[in-house]
Amino acid sequence: MTNALATSELKPGFGVEIHDVDLAAADNALLAEVVSAFHRHGAILLRDQHMPPADLVRFGRAFGPLEGHTVQDFVLPEHPDIYVLSNRIEDGRPVGAHNDGIGWHTDHNFKAEPVMCTMLHARIVPPEGSDTLLADGVAAYEALSAEEQARLDPLQLCHSYAFLAQMREHGRKTISAEVLAANPDVIHPLIRTHPADGRKALWVSGGTRGFVGWDQEESFRRIDELIEYVTQDRFVFRHKWRVGDVLVWDNRCTLHTGTLFDDTRYVREMHRMWVKGDRPF
Ligand SMILES: [Fe+2]
Repeated sequence: MTNALATSELKPGFGVEIHDVDLAAADNALLAEVVSAFHRHGAILLRDQHMPPADLVRFGRAFGPLEGHTVQDFVLPEHPDIYVLSNRIEDGRPVGAHNDGIGWHTDHNFKAEPVMCTMLHARIVPPEGSDTLLADGVAAYEALSAEEQARLDPLQLCHSYAFLAQMREHGRKTISAEVLAANPDVIHPLIRTHPADGRKALWVSGGTRGFVGWDQEESFRRIDELIEYVTQDRFVFRHKWRVGDVLVWDNRCTLHTGTLFDDTRYVREMHRMWVKGDRPF
């Protein structure tokens, strides 16, 4: 496909901002070009997008089938593929999940087929805080020595919803047997190959049971080191939100985290969507 999009890098070698595209008005051919840029760059950003939920869903479907949300509390009733992140209270009830996604992770890493990408559309943005940080796992892998790459290449991580849920809730909430049965532990490679072009990414994640065949304590220590390595400033893009931003990142080759904001002074509201992914290899 010829690519006629006007783009600029988000960070040298990682991510692109796509200019002069109105997603809600774009035809299918233009959306396909946007998706193609996503597959090659790790993340895409489009600013000043007016995206009512129906248009956001159409945009998401250009990437592939959408993934439903594990927790149904904050999906839009008319558009259940859209999940609301917000601290806003309406009629005494929170309209969205608040402080979701703080701490480095990849979405749905505990699934056999983790979500391919996460997209956020900014609707209300605090003047400070609530940045989203993306760590480039490809750059991190490529910066390793050949010896270190060879040591990491064969490692496999046991990802576990049960373990993650327990850790997050500190045992406060019991996870239903149904949810646990739907999310059995899975094993994924530490070094993940991108299906679009074979580039390799350091795809480490917290909340796992550790490396297969390793002592757990030794595993956790090594995982913490690797997370610290991949999330150094040199591999990280920090996104400062503006209303109308659409940011899509590729969970196959990045880690991400949200950051806090002063929720006693400011309101934040984002619409989130997930697109189904493949089995990591
Ligand atoms: Fe996330």
